[in-house]
Amino acid sequence: PWSASRAAGIIADHAHREGATLPILHALQETFGYVDGEAVPLIADALNLSRAEVHGCITFYHDFRREPAGRRTVKLCRAEACQAVGADALHAGILARLDVAWHGTTRDGAVTVEPVFCLGLCACGPAALVDGVPVGRLDLAALEDALAEPRP
Ligand code: FES
Repeated sequence: PWSASRAAGIIADHAHREGATLPILHALQETFGYVDGEAVPLIADALNLSRAEVHGCITFYHDFRREPAGRRTVKLCRAEACQAVGADALHAGILARLDVAWHGTTRDGAVTVEPVFCLGLCACGPAALVDGVPVGRLDLAALEDALAEPRP
C-alpha cells in the first residue's frame, strides 16, 4: 500500500540525479503499483518544480497509473492487424461488459484494461495479454475463460 514516508525516501534517493522526475515516477510505480496524488507535492518540493509540471509529466506518460491496478490486467491489442479482424467492436463490447474505460479498473478492483499496440500475435488476432499470458482469437467467452483461470 501507499506510504508517504516510503515515497519520500524513494524521492530523496533519486532527487540528486539529472532529470530525476521520470526515474522517481518509475521507482514509485514499481514500489506501489501506481503513483499516488500525494507524491506530486513531494516530488515538486524535492526537485524545485511546480506541482503542475510534475502532474503534467504523470499524465503525459500513459505508463504511469494514478490509482492501484486491478488484481488482473488485460491488455488488448489496438493495432492494425487486430483491427482488421474486428478488434474495435470486440473492445467496445469488452469495455461495456466490464463497465470500464481504457486504463480503467472495474469497480470491484478485479480487472484493469489497457490498450497496447501489437503483441506480435497478428496472425491470430484479435490478440490480448491476460496477466502477461498471450490470448489469440479473443472474444468475450475467451476473455472470460482466461479470467476464470487463476492468475499465473
Ligand atoms: Fe495485434 Fe499485431 S496487430 S498483435
